Amino acid sequence: MRDGFGRTIDYLRLSVTDRCSLRCIYCMPEDGVRWLEHTEILRYEDILRLLRIFAALGVKKIKITGGEPLVRKGVAGLIGEIKAIAGIQQVTLTTNGVALKDQLPDLLKAGIDGVNLSLDTLDRARFAEITRRDALPQVLQGLEAAWSAPGLNLKINCVAQAGRASDWVALAGLAKDHNLAVRFIEPMPIGLGGDLETCTETDIRAALEAAYGALAPFNKTLGNGPAKYFSLPDFQGKIGFISAVSHQFCDQCNRVRLTATGYLKTCLQYDVGADLRPLLAGSDEALQAAIQAAIQNKPQAHRFSEKTVENREAHIMSQIGG
Ligand code: GTP
Ligand code: 5AD
Ligand code: SF4
Repeated sequence: MRDGFGRTIDYLRLSVTDRCSLRCIYCMPEDGVRWLEHTEILRYEDILRLLRIFAALGVKKIKITGGEPLVRKGVAGLIGEIKAIAGIQQVTLTTNGVALKDQLPDLLKAGIDGVNLSLDTLDRARFAEITRRDALPQVLQGLEAAWSAPGLNLKINCVAQAGRASDWVALAGLAKDHNLAVRFIEPMPIGLGGDLETCTETDIRAALEAAYGALAPFNKTLGNGPAKYFSLPDFQGKIGFISAVSHQFCDQCNRVRLTATGYLKTCLQYDVGADLRPLLAGSDEALQAAIQAAIQNKPQAHRFSEKTVENREAHIMSQIGG
C-alpha cells in the first residue's frame, strides 16, 4: 500500500495497552496517567480483524508496543494468532524487559521474531532515577534470557540523555561479546520527551569512538525501523542510531501506528489519522476504505524543530507506543 507521497507502507506498530510497570521520566508522569478502561481498548478479536484487513492491504511486519505490552494478559497468545494471518511475515516486540524472563518461553513458542529491550543505563541507581522503579535486576534477567535464546533477534534501545557518556559506553559494551544491536535514540520532543536536554548522534559517536575505536558503517538493515547500523573492531554485535532529530528519515517512512483504543495514527508527531473503533460496528469494506484514506493523507514529515505545529500530538509516549 502506498501513501500520498509514494512511500510503501508495510509496517504497523500496534500498541496493545497504555499501561506500564515503569514510569520513565520522558514518557510518563510520576503519578501515572488515567489508565484506559478495559472497555476503551480494542479486544483481541477486534485487533485480529483489523490486522487481517491491514495484511490484505500489504502490511507484512507488526511491532507490538505499549505502554508495556507484556502487562496485558495473553499477549503471547495474540502474537501466535497474528503470526498465523496470511501475509504477515514478522512479528516483533518492544518491551521494558521487566516481565521478559517469565514470558519469553511463551513468546518463543508463539513464534516471536525479535525483541527490542528498552534500557538506558546499566547502573542500578541511575536506572531507578530514570524509570522511578528499582527494577534493573529483573530487566537484566530478561536480557540474559533473551540473549540465551537461540536465533532470537535482539536489540537494546537507549534513549540517550545529555552528558551520560558513561551510560552509553557501558551499554555499547554489551555488543562486544553478544550478537545484539545496541541502539541510541535521540530524545524526541513528544509528550514529556520535550523536557529532556537534547543530545545528538554526533555526541554519542564521539564518546563510543573514544572508548572502542572507529565505527564503520554496516550497510545492511537489521529490522524494519529507521535505525542505521555500525560495526566496531572485535565486536560481535552492532551499534545503531535512531536520529530522528538530527537526521530526519521521514522520506523513507514505511509505517503507521494503531493505538490501544483503535486510532490509526499515520505519523508519530501529529494527531492525524482515523478512528477505526466506531467503524468496527460496520463492514470490513468500510474499515478498509477508512484505512486507505488515512494512509493516503499521511503527513510528509515531522517538524520536531518547530515550536508551534498544527495538529501536534497531545498524547504522551506511553499512549502511542513510540
Ligand atoms: P526494528 O525493526 O526492530 O528496528 O524496530 P523499530 O526501531 O521500528 O522499533 P522500536 O520500537 O524499537 O523503536 C525504536 C525507536 O524508534 C523508538 O524511539 C521509536 O519512537 C522510534 N521510531 C520508530 N518509528 C519512528 C518514526 O516513524 N518516526 C520517529 N521519529 N521515530 C520512530
Ligand atoms: N524520545 C525517543 N524515544 C523515546 N522512547 C520513549 N519516549 C521517547 C522519546 N521522547 C522510546 C522508549 C522505547 C521506544 C519504543 O521509544 O525508550 O525504547
Ligand atoms: Fe514504560 Fe516504555 Fe514509557 Fe518507560 S518508556 S514508562 S518503559 S512505556
